[in-house]
Amino acid sequence: MSAQFKHVALIMDGNGRWAKKQNQERTFGHSSGSENVREIAIAANELGIEVLTLYAFSTENWKRPMDEVKFLMKLPEIFFAKFLQELMEKNIRIQTIGELDAFPNDTQKVLLRAIEATKHNTGMILCFAMNYGGKREILLAAKQFAEDLNHGKISMLADEEIFESYLMTKDYPPVDVCIRTSGEQRLSNFLLWQLAYAELVFVPEAWPEFTPERFKEVLTQTADRERRFGGI
Ligand code: FPP
Repeated sequence: MSAQFKHVALIMDGNGRWAKKQNQERTFGHSSGSENVREIAIAANELGIEVLTLYAFSTENWKRPMDEVKFLMKLPEIFFAKFLQELMEKNIRIQTIGELDAFPNDTQKVLLRAIEATKHNTGMILCFAMNYGGKREILLAAKQFAEDLNHGKISMLADEEIFESYLMTKDYPPVDVCIRTSGEQRLSNFLLWQLAYAELVFVPEAWPEFTPERFKEVLTQTADRERRFGGI
């Protein structure tokens, strides 16, 4: 199975509801969810997955109460203080997609430091989608595409492959599988272009309770699905 999937995407949903069920604050759910990022990233790396893209903060998440947004901004600092060393040892490379410049300076710095520290690692890419939205990504790509067209850098004959080179995921293989936890069945503006032919998997568990064993099980089950890419 492991060699079959190069790029796996994850919508880490259900932190808040999971916490509330245990009479805890929503932020407790996000902290536990962060810890689970470590578990799943290590499992994915062991499976030989090339890129694991995580939906960590969407362009819509700014609408949450200010305290929760502030807490989410702190998560990268806590996460990398705890786990950067281990991710280094596992040869994992950190990258991001999304517009980081909207974040507080400290959050940006922590992320950029992790990207810099791991840039020579050759194992799995652990990509955090932060202040990321699929529509926004396509809009930014379209603007740049139009500008390059205007300046004659590309031609009207430019195809999908060329357009993809304007996306934030330009260096990554296509997404093979997208898993969303906590039972909701929608994409919530995640990787809209990239999911065109991905297998979509919706699991009932909340993100903090989604174990590496279940992750492996889901991937194995998904690998059994026949992918025809529009052919027969
Ligand atoms: C959705 O659950 C989850 C988020 C908006 C945040 C996800 C972030 C993490 C799991 C941690 C990321 C880690 C780093 C290091 C950046 P929800 O709050 O929408 O859950 P609900 O649907 O139950 O309310």
